[in-house]
Amino acid sequence: MSDETGVPSADAESEQPAGVSRRGLFGLLGAGAAGLALGAAGGAGVTAAVAAQATTPASRVYPFFGAHQAGITTPAQDRLHFAAFDVGERTTREELRELLVEWSAAAAQLTQGLEIGETGAVGGSDLAPPEDTGEALGLPASGLTITFGFGPSLFETADGVDRFGIADRRPESLVRLPRFQGDALKPEYTDGDLCIQACADDPQVAVHAIRNLSRIAFGRASLRWSQLGFGRTSSTSTSQATPRNLFGFKDGTANVKSEEAAAVDEHVWVGAGEDAAWMTGGSYLVARRIRMLIENWDRTQLQEQELVIGRDKAQGAPLSGGTEFTEPDFDASGAAGQPLIDPTAHVRLAHPAQNSGVRLLRRGYNYVDGNDELGRLDAGLFFLSYQRSPEQFITVQRTLATDGLNEYIRHVGSAIFAVPPGATAGGFVGETLFA
Ligand code: HEM
Repeated sequence: MSDETGVPSADAESEQPAGVSRRGLFGLLGAGAAGLALGAAGGAGVTAAVAAQATTPASRVYPFFGAHQAGITTPAQDRLHFAAFDVGERTTREELRELLVEWSAAAAQLTQGLEIGETGAVGGSDLAPPEDTGEALGLPASGLTITFGFGPSLFETADGVDRFGIADRRPESLVRLPRFQGDALKPEYTDGDLCIQACADDPQVAVHAIRNLSRIAFGRASLRWSQLGFGRTSSTSTSQATPRNLFGFKDGTANVKSEEAAAVDEHVWVGAGEDAAWMTGGSYLVARRIRMLIENWDRTQLQEQELVIGRDKAQGAPLSGGTEFTEPDFDASGAAGQPLIDPTAHVRLAHPAQNSGVRLLRRGYNYVDGNDELGRLDAGLFFLSYQRSPEQFITVQRTLATDGLNEYIRHVGSAIFAVPPGATAGGFVGETLFA
């Protein structure tokens, strides 16, 4: 992609992408137009070529601009930094719009492995703070995707105030999630006016993205809560091996995969004319911080663990038989007449058969945030799901009220966001809302 002077070759498609470096590309493209230029002009071609050729996680580059935002059907990367923001009380509509413009421009650069701003990390004045914080210098793009979302409170505060003149554009379904049985939500992990999901195969790249975007927001929006995730807990592509969650089970087997085009259209993207017009091509994101009571689980017999999930621990095969990708047979029974997949098993209750055909695109991550005062790991699943309507998540979560898993988990955080469609080259995410 670049020679040793850092100059990208004109014939990018014939070059190896692995050498994309922040300093290298920035050296040539320099100014703040760099990321936009990549997205707007040759960008789509260059990045598509790079993405197509990339074979190692570090060398993957995903285009920022497109019909849908990246980071949804993109093959789930291994690391996450998720952040929810509150917009400042005195921020005006124009300032919010300007923030989204600046965030998109920076995200277009970051996702291509570039430094942000006009002068990057070390190219500016010695007497001014650098525009880019610098900790990703020398690191490749690492498959970074940045996905923006708008919470219900952006449209109308809890007191009914329409701060930005967009209350009448709020999609009807974009309201705080209802209280579910067993919810033990803590305000410090809940809600938010805006969100940014940064996923990458290098944690430093994801953290660098959130840090710099938070910095850009200074004076207009501030971090409300954030979450680091390591180890994806789902596959969003059939090309990926199914990973394991912290209970040691394969997670993501029956997920909606990007290759299932019809299912993605049916379950993930908002279609034309079915919702607020500005959401066409967008999706809804539910984030749930689910604490796993690891110590209780670890004292549970293997047989009980498998009964609770409804799949075997080794292969992830349904307890009704077969291998990992065999469809579960919920009618199958054992010698004593007992159902092979227990009535309270997670996969039975979460399955579309129990939920009017509803499916979700799950994109969660494992987390461990130290330990509590009793010496128990503060660990769990940072559950993320994308769906064309919040109703899909609500339906499944309600069915999970009798889930055997509930004895071993606590939902402690919750948020919902409307995720607008992708930005057109040179435009910004949210443009359809502020048009
Ligand atoms: C810590 C909490 C959770 C754990 C440990 C967990 C674990 C699992 C596992 C091991 C599977 C089977 C493999 C697979 O198909 O992915 C699964 C499936 C599934 N889970 Fe969860 N899950 C959790 C929470 C949730 C929540 C909150 C929802 C949604 C409200 C959910 C929805 C689903 C769905 C839709 C499936 C696929 C069911 C099917 O079509 O067969 N899970 N989960």
